Amino acid sequence: MYVQRNGLTLELVEGDITLQDTDAIVNAANSRLAGGGGVDGAIHRRGGPAIMAETDEKYPEGCPTGSAVISGAGRLAAKYVIHAVGPVWSGGSHREPELLACAVERCLELALDSGCRSIAFPAISTGIYGYPRGDAARIVLQVALDFQDRFQGPALIRFVLFDHSAYSDFAEALRELVPQTEG
Ligand code: APR
Repeated sequence: MYVQRNGLTLELVEGDITLQDTDAIVNAANSRLAGGGGVDGAIHRRGGPAIMAETDEKYPEGCPTGSAVISGAGRLAAKYVIHAVGPVWSGGSHREPELLACAVERCLELALDSGCRSIAFPAISTGIYGYPRGDAARIVLQVALDFQDRFQGPALIRFVLFDHSAYSDFAEALRELVPQTEG
């Protein structure tokens, strides 16, 4: 499923973030950049130790919640991994929506600054961090659409959903935001 405007594409696919050949892929990291399970575990396993070695050296203080940092991608097909730190869901009144939106926007800024024409996101914060998926989907899709409208890039923003139920939640949110969604 996708939306195309002004030659730019926002796309939803079901799949594995580690297998994407976009210029950048986004990791759902923690603020210590210490690795973990879920997306984080999968990226470091498949990408190899070079990714952690680089983040340890460049970002010894880690990365605050609501922001992101960039590294190389080791053995992955992508050129860069952008490590985003989404909020832990604590009921919704602890700035979770704002922090999630800021993390996604920072990823897009880093991608553009690094010359990336394409970027793939997992559903940040919706796994171990417990963010309700439909709510998260509406936020991150709106940020991505607004960003493309403002900066005419990256040319492709892809959301990679790990199972059909996640895909359905994102598809419903995208249809709400852009009724003329195709596919
Ligand atoms: N590809 C795409 N999506 C995936 C993959 C994968 N290989 N593996 C898991 N997912 C999905 C999960 O199903 C979930 O919907 O990504 C979403 C995000 O889940 P998490 O990886 O748990 O990320 P998050 O909720 O942001 O929690 C971050 O988890 O692994 C630790 O170190 C990480 O502490 C941090 C926390």
